[in-house]
Amino acid sequence: MGESGAFLVMKNISKTFPGVKALDGVTFEVQKGEVHALVGENGAGKSTLIKILSGAYRPDGGEILLRGQRVEINTPGQAQQLGISVIYQELDLIPHMTIPENIFVGREPARALGLVDWREMGKKAQALMASVGMNLPLNIPVRKLSAAQQQMVAIARALSLNADIIVMDEPTASLTQNEIQILFRVIEKLKASGVTIIYISHRLEEIFQIADRVTVLRDGKYIGTWPVGEVGVDHIIRCMVGRDLKEKYPRERVPRGEEILRVEGLTHEPYFRDVSFSLHAGEILGIAGLVGAGRSEIMRSIVGADEKDSGEVYLFGKKVDIKSPHDAIRLGIGLLPEERKLQGLILQLDVRSNISLPILDRLSRWGFIRRLLEYRAVVDIIDRLGIKTPSPEQKVKNLSGGNQQKVVFAKWFLRGCRVFIFDEPTRGIDVGAKLEIYKLMNELVRDGVGIIVISSDLPEVLGISDRLLVMHHGRIAGELRHEEATQEKVLNLAFGGVA
Ligand SMILES: Nc1ncnc2c1ncn2[C@@H]1O[C@H](COP(=O)(O)OP(=O)(O)OP(=O)(O)O)[C@@H](O)[C@H]1O
Ligand SMILES: [Mg+2]
Repeated sequence: MGESGAFLVMKNISKTFPGVKALDGVTFEVQKGEVHALVGENGAGKSTLIKILSGAYRPDGGEILLRGQRVEINTPGQAQQLGISVIYQELDLIPHMTIPENIFVGREPARALGLVDWREMGKKAQALMASVGMNLPLNIPVRKLSAAQQQMVAIARALSLNADIIVMDEPTASLTQNEIQILFRVIEKLKASGVTIIYISHRLEEIFQIADRVTVLRDGKYIGTWPVGEVGVDHIIRCMVGRDLKEKYPRERVPRGEEILRVEGLTHEPYFRDVSFSLHAGEILGIAGLVGAGRSEIMRSIVGADEKDSGEVYLFGKKVDIKSPHDAIRLGIGLLPEERKLQGLILQLDVRSNISLPILDRLSRWGFIRRLLEYRAVVDIIDRLGIKTPSPEQKVKNLSGGNQQKVVFAKWFLRGCRVFIFDEPTRGIDVGAKLEIYKLMNELVRDGVGIIVISSDLPEVLGISDRLLVMHHGRIAGELRHEEATQEKVLNLAFGGVA
């Protein structure tokens, strides 16, 4: 073991990208068999540190010690040989391939003559999946699996590589509560068998549930490491953002204005049926419920992204016929979808273009002033959301995961809609930026906009909504005013009980 006795030591690691010091002399020590959480705001350097550990990036300075020995990790292959396996923020499974193919891609067990031994591969895959508690049909493409199941395939692959250090970069970002619990059980099992886990997440409550110790990074610097039993969540947040965050859910009461949107008897089998509600100017309407309760599907039907079997949508009292998201936007209804990474961004383009593309129409009315206005609007929103980028000209693909998220958000805020529908708006976003997003929502409602927010983060949706609809199995199970809503009532309704 090294001088500190730790299993893995990343010592004095630095990494600079053009215009960004992503890591500044970070030392990170992990004990054998622990679950070690790594936290920090968007752009703090978490993924970069992990990419150095996995051989995806070369550090500018520093060294890595494993079991007390200095190791060179220059390629992902070398990391693999050392037993280090990373499950990235964006899973790198091959969507059209099956579970066994994904687990063994490039390492298929061969028979004589180099033919792939499919039976052997299937058997091994089954055993690996069973070890993570999954019993799934093996011969379907992984794109048909749920996010959690895909996650388990990635973990099974890590196990097949005999990894004894597994890094998970925001594994729960797209998982349901149930799936998260399954993942946690798998983590417990891995830990019991001596596997060391490095766990990155913005959901601090998870860290207190699953981790033994937690390390905080801020602006590329190491802040500290603590056993989770010895610190509170406030302490961690303070270390992450460098200040106290007093109000977690700033909510402003705005007088409720006229009805903007009304939905009557909306039905799309088998997803949801007979859904009716209205949204007023100055109101934030939260939609709670379990994942799979039909929340996103309703919103997709409203904006014409999905069809509907029956039901009507009224805008300012007038019946409207919305056939596509384009129609919806033209009428002033914007949906920020759940799968933002896929739908929202052009990774090769810079931050400025990504933010201003949807508003160019509007800006071009002013002819030559356009570029100036565009620049101002963009710089302003970058500043307000605290998007961490060396300049508006940085390519979006070079931003950290959470900062990419914020770019999508920025783009939607500049759109000038009367109704905003946000589906899981703060997923993958750090605590400080969440607060900024809530504040922006407040500004929007102050301007007379109506907002619908779908969120699986129960404290969040309780905290920010004026009114809350709770879905159960495709129906509205109940409605609660901010004053009367509690976690317990919401959960009761969501599980099919009464409030
Ligand atoms: N390939 C790259 N080129 C340029 N800059 C980069 C590159 N990769 C990361 N960065 C920058 O390095 C900093 C740290 O990014 P990193 O992805 O490590 O953050 P993170 O802590 O993982 O954040 P998040 O929680 O948002 O995922 C950011 O400012 C990011 O823009
Ligand atoms: Mg990251």
